[in-house]
Amino acid sequence: MNAIARLGVLTGGGDAPGLNAVIRAVVKAATNSGIECVGLEDSFDGLIEPNRSRVLTPRDVTGILRLGGTILGTRNSGNPFAYPVATSEGTKDYSDRVVETFRQMGLEALIVIGGDGTLAIAHAFSRRGLPIVGVPKTIDNDIVGTTSCFGFDTAVAFATDAIDRLHSTAEAHKRIMVVEVMGRYTGWIALYAGVAGGADAILIPEIPFDLQRVAERLRERDRWGARFSIVVVAEGAYATGGTLAVLERANATHVERLGGIGAQVRTALAELTGKETRSVVLGHLQRGGAPTSFDRVLATRFGGKAVELVRRGDFGTMVASNPPDIVARRLEDVVGKIKTVPAGLDLLATARALGVTFGE
Ligand code: F6P
Repeated sequence: MNAIARLGVLTGGGDAPGLNAVIRAVVKAATNSGIECVGLEDSFDGLIEPNRSRVLTPRDVTGILRLGGTILGTRNSGNPFAYPVATSEGTKDYSDRVVETFRQMGLEALIVIGGDGTLAIAHAFSRRGLPIVGVPKTIDNDIVGTTSCFGFDTAVAFATDAIDRLHSTAEAHKRIMVVEVMGRYTGWIALYAGVAGGADAILIPEIPFDLQRVAERLRERDRWGARFSIVVVAEGAYATGGTLAVLERANATHVERLGGIGAQVRTALAELTGKETRSVVLGHLQRGGAPTSFDRVLATRFGGKAVELVRRGDFGTMVASNPPDIVARRLEDVVGKIKTVPAGLDLLATARALGVTFGE
């Protein structure tokens, strides 16, 4: 084990339930092995701007296990290699400053908790010589190299509860209810929440859909007496030959924002079926609230493993779930890729066997 005296920890990208559980695990495990923890605020801002960090003791993290959000703050538009500034250029490269501040603060390791974007930044700093261990975070479940990420289970539990609630009103009014969920370019949340909530149609980016097919299935339900239907749509889903529903285009400092497909599907299904149809966007509600017990345990295991990797000097890595173990992956093997729902996933076959349509 390496004798490391001081480590930094930050959270980057969109928040996900379980971030605080990781911070707590890192601070407790590190402190108990004689390592001082410095919490860096608002992602890499804590290494760009002065006085944006604080020492974290076990006292500071007591009671945060069950809290959503992150006590350190986060942002998804503060890439130090292309930092937004109010000049004609629009961005500035602050990466040298980050490396310098890291050294000046006497940090010997950096634990970066974030999604694909933040882990790519972590990888770039790792190549610049910073001793980094990454912790994958996402509600979307789209990070490669790990079977699960904390945040996903909580998002699915919330979406499932929402679908349950929509079921009763759909049934009472004999309506079609369309539920748009998050997930960016993958359909994990839609698939899991759709199956858990008993949806009749699940539309995901991995399977471009044909709404005629969906309408046929919903009419069939009408014929055998189930006169309401639930359609779950991933925000990144699109029709065969169609395009993504984009709320805001990507720019120099922010990635593309998706949204709006639920409303499009509602309008089209109302026309195709002649039935009353309503749509709901679950949006950021999926990222809020207390993490489920599954996410708390996973986040705690990730935090504990990250400190173990720091103590071993195993840098340039990301902790990952590979049941029954938590393992280390090389950052270069995971960044820049997306884990999509594979065509051969048993859950797709099972859902189809039960009569769920994916609009194929
Ligand atoms: O990656 C998590 C996520 O919630 C996606 O599901 C969603 O597309 C995106 O972040 C929303 O980002 P923002 O918080 O910037 O609107």
